[in-house]
Amino acid sequence: MAPLLECTDVHVAYPGKGWGSSPIKILKGVSLDIHRGETVGLVEESGSGKTTLGRAILGFAPVTGGQILMGGQDYAQVPLAKRKHMASELQVIFQDPYTSLNPAMTIEEILSEPLVVNKVDNPKKVIGELLERVNLPPNSGGRLAREFSGGQRQRIAIARALALRPKLIICDEPTSALDLSTQRKVIDLLLEIQEQTHVAYLFITHDLSVVRAISHRIAVMFDGEIVEQGTAEKITTDPDHPYTQRLLMASPVANPAEQRLRRTARQELLARQRAEGEDRWVVASA
Ligand SMILES: Nc1ncnc2c1ncn2[C@@H]1O[C@H](COP(=O)(O)OP(=O)(O)O)[C@@H](O)[C@H]1O
Ligand SMILES: [Mg+2]
Repeated sequence: MAPLLECTDVHVAYPGKGWGSSPIKILKGVSLDIHRGETVGLVEESGSGKTTLGRAILGFAPVTGGQILMGGQDYAQVPLAKRKHMASELQVIFQDPYTSLNPAMTIEEILSEPLVVNKVDNPKKVIGELLERVNLPPNSGGRLAREFSGGQRQRIAIARALALRPKLIICDEPTSALDLSTQRKVIDLLLEIQEQTHVAYLFITHDLSVVRAISHRIAVMFDGEIVEQGTAEKITTDPDHPYTQRLLMASPVANPAEQRLRRTARQELLARQRAEGEDRWVVASA
């Protein structure tokens, strides 16, 4: 079966600052497929293009080369009148639930917005089902977004993303602003929703340990290019690329004894890579 999303050799560049300056290249030929019901993790530490790829898929970044197909269709070529339908197939959840929801709106208002715009029948019933799906109390509809905790707000954002039954949700660091136990709960919820609805996720994060818990496959980005992709198992246990190897060594482990072993192994890896001339793959936090 053809992939749900096909990104082929995608380039994104922003205009340079100042007259006559050359464009700033952000994505330099990214190819990435996502199948129905699949989670692909996109991981990178230094901040050089993950969100940009998400924005390019959503149609909000200046794509200067390559192609992005959703369900075999090129978004950029679809007439505006038909885009609305396509847009409902693609949703996004952002990192910060404090800014992505209007604090002065009730949950019911937030959730009914996409339903009303898209003329969905019986929005009240759908809202009830959405609240249930994300494990929020059925009576929370009348409360304001600002009355909820960070984890609960992220549940609201997830419910809003689910409202139009999308095929793909771009999750841009959706757990990065949450404490560890809340992170775990949000990831469990996303997994449960995927089991029930067969939605696909592009899960963007700087944290290899988060992406391991949710992804089927992982793509590792460095400096606007994907340097390695593979199964979650392969990438998080036995990666081939020196940058991924460093990323793995830098990702924290819970057990202090293991953390010490990890630190020694990481120093050995760095020394080995330096000796082999592969030390351009610098991990920002290392
Ligand atoms: N609208 C824009 N104009 C110019 N540069 C931008 C714009 N948006 C993002 N960038 C640049 O693109 C690079 C990658 O940003 P981003 O995709 O947000 O990184 P990440 O999500 O991986 O942290 C950054 O250097 C950022 O400054
Ligand atoms: Mg980002």
